[in-house]
Amino acid sequence: MPTPILYDCDPGHDDAIALVMAHRSPDIELLGVTTTCGNAELEKTTDNAIRVLDFVGASDVPVAAGCARPLARPLVLGTADGPSGLEGSPYLPKPSRGPLKQHAVDFLAEKLAASPDPLLVVATGPLCNIGLLVLKHPHVLPKVKELIWMGGVFYRKSEIITPTEFNAFCDPEALKLVLDARVPITMIGLDVTMQVLIEAPQYKELAAIDTPLGRVAMDWLKFYEKLHRNSMGVGGAMHDPLALALAIDPTLVRTRPAHIGVDLSGSYTFGATVADFWHDRGEEDNARIAYDVDADRFFKLMFDLLR
Ligand code: BDR
Ligand code: CA
Repeated sequence: MPTPILYDCDPGHDDAIALVMAHRSPDIELLGVTTTCGNAELEKTTDNAIRVLDFVGASDVPVAAGCARPLARPLVLGTADGPSGLEGSPYLPKPSRGPLKQHAVDFLAEKLAASPDPLLVVATGPLCNIGLLVLKHPHVLPKVKELIWMGGVFYRKSEIITPTEFNAFCDPEALKLVLDARVPITMIGLDVTMQVLIEAPQYKELAAIDTPLGRVAMDWLKFYEKLHRNSMGVGGAMHDPLALALAIDPTLVRTRPAHIGVDLSGSYTFGATVADFWHDRGEEDNARIAYDVDADRFFKLMFDLLR
């Protein structure tokens, strides 16, 4: 039986790859897609989600647009994906439809309430929509079986890792709301996503996928890699595809429980995520964080779904 999921995203090249994977995986039933601001303005991320779904023949998957800005801060946009959020996609069609009239948060609440069993939610953008869900529809939170979220950074063991990760930095208040609400959250942060990079062997594998999708994915990743290559000297990180992949195979990463805090006030560090593994502050675990990934198995899954 495929796992039904709700997918909240801000496409975004890496969100776009994740969206394709969600649609193509026989192990996932994509109940709906909700969009947030993040890699680009909401209107663009919503258009991008619809264009990607159209391109892979998934025009029947409902798309609901959500928050156009973070809950308590001015909008900041990501920079890796270009002004449209999905630059370098000359072959994608124009969107065939608009989003649902319903706001993403109400759509999520309705789907969760209607489901006989708690549902898996995957989120790969700033948590604006999920934070608003906590505020507006707290009664449906017990129906969230797990929230797999691409966000945060903890170990900071590499010089290419910054004190904050974009999705957390963009809407830290939303993250705090979600953590405080005790939604069961698994955080897939830069610690693991910076270990799944598109380098020469991955480009070779992608080049061998001689299909329209293979060519579009190649265009995306070539654009997406620019910022990574120029600023950090590495290939594009498959942040969001890794988070999505866990809905298919949770054994791709190893996780550990911790109490997670998020800095809301530091002038240079707001949005920084801090893990207390030892309960030094006497606070209970409120999340699991991923600390290790089987990159080879992840790439096999990703390329199998793109092929
Ligand atoms: C996250 O931020 C965005 O740029 C990516 O889509 C990913 O979700 C990585 O920090
Ligand atoms: Ca994203």
